[in-house]
Amino acid sequence: MTDQGIERGLTDYGDRGFSRYLRRAFAKSMGYSDEDLAKPIVGIANTYSEFNNCHRGLKELAEAVKRGVWQAGGLPLEFPTISLGEPFLHPTSMLFRNLMAMDTEEMIRAQPIDCVVLMGGCDKTTPAQLMAAASAGVPAIVLVAGPMMTGAFGPERLGACTDCRRFWGEYRGGRIDDATIRRIEGSLATTQGTCMVMGTASTMACLTETLGMMLPGGAAIPAVHADRLRQAEQTGRTAVEMIAAGRTPDQIMTPPAFENACRVLLAIGGSTNAVIHLTAMAGRMGVAIEPGFFDRLSEETPVLVNLKPTGIYYMEDFHNAGGLETVLQELRPKLNLDCLSVTGRTLGERLDDRWNFPDWQDVIAPAAKPLQEKGGLVVLRGNLCPDGAVLKRSAASADLMQHEGRAVVFDGLEDLAQRIDDPALDVAPEDVLVLKNAGPKGAPGMPEAGYLPIPQKLARQGIKDMVRISDARMSGTAFGTIVLHIAPEASVGGLLGLVETGDRVVLDVDRRRLELMVDEEELHRRRAGKGSGSPRAAASLPARGYLKLHMEQVEQANLGCDLAFLRPASKTTLA
Ligand code: FES
Repeated sequence: MTDQGIERGLTDYGDRGFSRYLRRAFAKSMGYSDEDLAKPIVGIANTYSEFNNCHRGLKELAEAVKRGVWQAGGLPLEFPTISLGEPFLHPTSMLFRNLMAMDTEEMIRAQPIDCVVLMGGCDKTTPAQLMAAASAGVPAIVLVAGPMMTGAFGPERLGACTDCRRFWGEYRGGRIDDATIRRIEGSLATTQGTCMVMGTASTMACLTETLGMMLPGGAAIPAVHADRLRQAEQTGRTAVEMIAAGRTPDQIMTPPAFENACRVLLAIGGSTNAVIHLTAMAGRMGVAIEPGFFDRLSEETPVLVNLKPTGIYYMEDFHNAGGLETVLQELRPKLNLDCLSVTGRTLGERLDDRWNFPDWQDVIAPAAKPLQEKGGLVVLRGNLCPDGAVLKRSAASADLMQHEGRAVVFDGLEDLAQRIDDPALDVAPEDVLVLKNAGPKGAPGMPEAGYLPIPQKLARQGIKDMVRISDARMSGTAFGTIVLHIAPEASVGGLLGLVETGDRVVLDVDRRRLELMVDEEELHRRRAGKGSGSPRAAASLPARGYLKLHMEQVEQANLGCDLAFLRPASKTTLA
C-alpha cells in the first residue's frame, strides 16, 4: 500500500482493496492509463471564474502548469474552489476569505493530492490559499494571475484602482462630467490580471514570493507576458520535485520567513490589508504577530518602491526594474537568509546569484537612498484602539500627522451613505470623520469602507484629504490620512462605539497615539445608556449558514480576522 498518488486517502467503504479498485476504475473513465495512475499527483486549485475578471487568464496558465507537471513525471489534476472576485461580492469579499480557506484546505486534504499548485491572485484569494496550505500541511506552491497592464486616457496612464478613486474624487468634486467618467470607466482595467498598483493583490504576491511559497520573480510578471506562462510551466515542474523532497509549508512558512514578509511589506509601501492577512497566515502556523511588530520593523525599514498609491509607477514598471528581486537584494542585510523556499534553495542562495542594481530606473530606490527612511505603515495605540489600529503613513498627508479635530460620526455604512453628501451636514475640513460598526462583526465582514469619501460640499471646495478613522479596512489602492482596523471594533464594545459628534479626537503619529478626549465619567454615562454599542441586536444575528459561523467565530483585526476554531495555539510570538 502507498499513501501517494491515486491511492492516497482512499474513500472509506470498509474494504481498502475495493476502494482502490473503484477509484482506479473511475480514474480510467477519464482516459488515464496505468502509467499515468502510477505517477505522483499534482492538484491544481484553479480559481478561474466568470465572476472574477482578475483570473480571466487562469485557464491558459493552468495548461502551462500541466505541461510542467507532465514533463517532470507527475499527473496534473485540476480542480475548482471558491473564487473571490473583489468587485463582484456582496457585502464584501473579506467576509468569504475564511470560507475560501476552509474550502481549499478541505479539498487539498480530501482529494489524493501529493502537492498542490494554488492559482489565485485577486485580493483575498492568495491569503485564503496560503491559510489553507498552512493548515493542510501538504506540499504547496503558489502561482498568481499576475498584474494587469495599464490603460490610457488621453496623455495619462491609467491603472486600477488608484486612478479609479482619483477620478471618482474629481467627479464628486464636479471637476469632470458624466461623459468623461464613463470614458474613464472603460480605460481603467483593460487586460486580464490583478490591479496593477501596489494594492492588496500585488502586495500579497510580493509577500508570497518573499515567504518562499512562489518561484523567484513570480510576483510581478505581467499577466499577459509570455514569461508568466514559462513561470507556470516551471511551477508545475517544481511541484513534482517538492513531492520527492517532502517540502511541506511548515519548512517554508517559518517565523523568520514571516519576519521577512513583514519587512518587505513595509519596504514596498504595501497594502494595509496585508497586516491582517499576514497575521492570519502566520496564525495558521502557530506564529502570533503582535501589531507592534510591524511598527518596530517600520522604524528600521526604508520605503524603496515608487508605485501607486504611494508613488507614481505601476507593476509593469516594477517588473521591468527587476521586481521583487531588486527589493530583496537591497534589503538583504536586514533579511533572514536561511529561509527555505519551494525551490529547495534558501533566500540567501537565491540572492547570491549575480546581481547589479538597475541604476537606469527610479521605480525602485537603492537602500542607500530610499524614498522614505521609515516604513510605510504605523500601528497606533491609545484609548480608542487599545489592541491597535493601522495607518499607512506613506499614503497620508504630512500636515495631518499631528492633528486634533472635532468628530463627525457616522453610525454605520447606511448612515454614511445617507448623510455624507447632505448639503446640510455640519462638517469642516479640520474635522475628523468617524465611521463605526464596520469591523469584522459590525458590518459584518470588515468592508473596505475606511476610505470615507470627502463630503461632497468639501470636495467641491477642493479638499482632498481629512483625518478619517474607523474599524473598517480600506483598499490597498486607496490613499489619505486614514486610520483603519481599530480594535476592538465598535460592535464588540470598543470605545469607538461611544464616540459622538462634537467629541475631540487626537491623532499623533509620532507618538503613535489615537485618543478620544472625553473624560471617564462621561464615557461611563454613555456606556450605561448604550449597552454594547452594536447596531446589530442579538435578535437579528443570523440563525444559519456561513454568516452565523462567521459571527460566532471571527476574531478581531489584530488577530487576523480568522475564525477562532481554525487557528491553533501560538507557539511563537513576533513582537
Ligand atoms: Fe482583483 Fe483588484 S479587483 S486585484
